[in-house]
Amino acid sequence: MNPSSPRADRVVLAYSGGLDTSVAIGWITAETGAEVVALAVDVGQGGEDMDVIRRRALDCGAVESVVVDARHEFARDYVAPALQANGLYMDRYPLVSSLSRPLIARHLVEAARLHGAAAVAHGCTGKGNDQVRFEVSVMALAPELRVMAPVRDSAMTRDKAIAFAEERGMPIDVSRRSPYSIDQNLWGRTAECGVLEDPWEQPPEDVFVYTADPTASTAPDEVVVTFVDGVPTALDGRDLPLVEIIDELNARGGAHGVGRIDLIEDRLVGIKSREIYECPAAVTLLTAHRDLEDLTLERDIARYKRGVDQRWSELVYDGLWFSALKRALDSFLVTASEHVSGDVRLRLSGGTAQVVGRRSAASLYDFALATYDTGDSFDQGDAKGFIDLWGLPTKVWAARAHRLAG
Ligand code: ARG
Repeated sequence: MNPSSPRADRVVLAYSGGLDTSVAIGWITAETGAEVVALAVDVGQGGEDMDVIRRRALDCGAVESVVVDARHEFARDYVAPALQANGLYMDRYPLVSSLSRPLIARHLVEAARLHGAAAVAHGCTGKGNDQVRFEVSVMALAPELRVMAPVRDSAMTRDKAIAFAEERGMPIDVSRRSPYSIDQNLWGRTAECGVLEDPWEQPPEDVFVYTADPTASTAPDEVVVTFVDGVPTALDGRDLPLVEIIDELNARGGAHGVGRIDLIEDRLVGIKSREIYECPAAVTLLTAHRDLEDLTLERDIARYKRGVDQRWSELVYDGLWFSALKRALDSFLVTASEHVSGDVRLRLSGGTAQVVGRRSAASLYDFALATYDTGDSFDQGDAKGFIDLWGLPTKVWAARAHRLAG
């Protein structure tokens, strides 16, 4: 195999193991004559064994089938920066799918080079954000690659997909399909479609997998998260890889129904859609991180950073992970996150992760300045002159208003 001479008749498909991408293997071959290399990326989605998924792709006609364990890469290179950015879209969605798509795109490009493919393919529809994220990422990383999107571009509807699979005796169990469209990874789980398309309809309990019913009472859990420079490094004093911290908090937060989000969301393609998210670890860690920033960030950095956080989250949501502005904002976030280090104590209970304490060797909280008790080092006499000058422009402006009105 010569990586420098890609073959026009070979394509690497982002493969999930589900109905659409399984059918896409045979479909692409039938439509274009190209052979398909299936690439399944483990971003901590759990569920089926990755080797079962790998073999299914071969059974569906892939010439090669590859599984990449990208969980640590996902945590380190995608989730950690998102935490430093307090990454939330519309102030509420922790960017679950938005973070995994650029990573999967990066692996598609790598696999295309390795297997000498001239094209990559994904199974997205034309109505969502994921198609944009995949394709813009591929454009940035390997503009020479063609992108195929059979579900969107060659009318591979669900009914046709099922008929196609049945006709060819493809080994796909259609009955196992969820009534919802699901995406999941370490950072959370997303659900849309079906009954959820009525925004007034309460999500039925069968939507939820990562979280227990928050109203079912159990004794609260308490957890201490340690951060170094804005990235979690330990739980309850145990140093752990980020992947394990997230796994454990998904389990512990999930047991208390932490991280359920019901959002009417503005998609990049202009549609408003109703999405249900479950992100126990993400919500716990984002809550803890934001609180630690309040303790350790200088005031002007903290205020300015809120705007950077929001812009960063929008860029990532909008598929611009590999873009100039996102990259420049990353540098700001790294610098701003220096000293966002310390411990945050949270109580997990009744659907919320509530901060109940924080401490840091890099704290800017000065007891002697803050206290109203003895030991106060703040000179209250300074406040008077400060207020006189601070209020001076307002005083002059208001005086003019009175004068002209009079
Ligand atoms: N609306 C979310 C987003 O745009 C979730 C998308 C989930 N993707 C899926 N193929 N079900 O990030």
